[in-house]
Amino acid sequence: MTVPAPFASALPPASGPRVLVIVGGSVAAIKAPAVLRRLREGGAQVRVIATSAALAFVTELSLATAAAGEVATDRTWFAPRPDAQHLTLARVDAAVVVGASADLLARAAGGHASDLASATLLSVRAPVLWVPAMNEQMWTHPAVQANAERLRGWGHRFLGPVVGAFGTAGEGAGLGRMAEPEEIAGAVLALLDPPTSPQDLAGLHVVVSAGPTREYLDPVRFISNPSSGKMGFAVAEEARDRGARVTLVTGPVSLPDPPGLTVRRIETALELRDAVKEAARDADIVVMTAAVADYRAAAAQTEKQAKVAGDVTLRLTPNPDILAELGQEKGKRVLVGFAMETHAGIERAAAKARRKNADFILLNYPTREGTAFGSDDNEVTLVRPDGSHEAWPRLSKREVARRLLDGARRLRRGQEAAG
Ligand code: CTP
Repeated sequence: MTVPAPFASALPPASGPRVLVIVGGSVAAIKAPAVLRRLREGGAQVRVIATSAALAFVTELSLATAAAGEVATDRTWFAPRPDAQHLTLARVDAAVVVGASADLLARAAGGHASDLASATLLSVRAPVLWVPAMNEQMWTHPAVQANAERLRGWGHRFLGPVVGAFGTAGEGAGLGRMAEPEEIAGAVLALLDPPTSPQDLAGLHVVVSAGPTREYLDPVRFISNPSSGKMGFAVAEEARDRGARVTLVTGPVSLPDPPGLTVRRIETALELRDAVKEAARDADIVVMTAAVADYRAAAAQTEKQAKVAGDVTLRLTPNPDILAELGQEKGKRVLVGFAMETHAGIERAAAKARRKNADFILLNYPTREGTAFGSDDNEVTLVRPDGSHEAWPRLSKREVARRLLDGARRLRRGQEAAG
């Protein structure tokens, strides 16, 4: 049959990976049609389930139009039909839950099958990506975090929520905004691609710290630095793509949670220490890219401090050196640090590696053009404790991550061989 041109694009592609899109009961469900369109543009055949709550936010008609196909709902599931719809819908290459609500997460984590979405999620054997959207207060509640952790433990992946404005007018901004449709479709299509990177870190646990820390003076003021987190996120994503299990501990940055790894968001150096040390217990490689504040307020005030006339003196106390603490109980872990100098500092970096018992340190110069805070490139020198070093040219942060992990993997294999 020849399809008249105006209708041709409305038909689902006859081949291509099959992606199940489950739309949850969140205000962000209104972005689901855009996700469906992007997935179809990327060559996927989409199937859609809308929960009853989702249909309070987005119409069945707009989902059906974007999907160019029917929308499965609790109404179609409970209707007489020749197949078990949840099993038919589960036969896909990947599933994504768009606008995942706290309740849907809880149903899936609890193994419920009381509605079409949760029954289908129990039946899917393909990779599942969750894209949560909910108020920060709900997302950070231990019940929601425990459910997400449980799902991660079963291999489910998460994208976001990210920092930004969300909800209807007046609800505000913060962590809780859903990732954008292009990013969601990109993450789903990436799940479908067989890994192209060598899986040379498979079986290893890599812990990465990233971003700045915040040291509060009072509830509304803190000391921090402009670290963007890009270097640490690049290391974490590169390790994930090479097959490692990855824990990323990050200070406040505007980057969304990368899918396929465990992300812990912290604020202060003391929180960073707890999270890194806990994750490092069974780690094989620890990479400290975090720009940890060296000092915190000696006595942080619990009430906002009003201004006073004249100068004020801040009393600061040193933060623990996390890398050095890890170095004291190093075991077989490979430890990598970063150091920042505004002038030549190879001997200083080597001394730092010796003092902290790190295997090597990447030394960078944040005042050099194109490699400053927040940039996409970095120019570093790998410095070993004995002072030997390799200067790398200016590279993308992802390429720096690749070389860093090559070095860490060689050391790890060497330590394994040494018994
Ligand atoms: N680091 C850490 N804990 C701290 C400070 C730094 O784990 N409290 C880590 C950083 O993540 C980085 C490395 O140590 O990997 C080097 O940090 P840097 O601040 O350059 O080192 P310092 O020992 O603080 O040296 P300096 O005297 O130059 O500030």
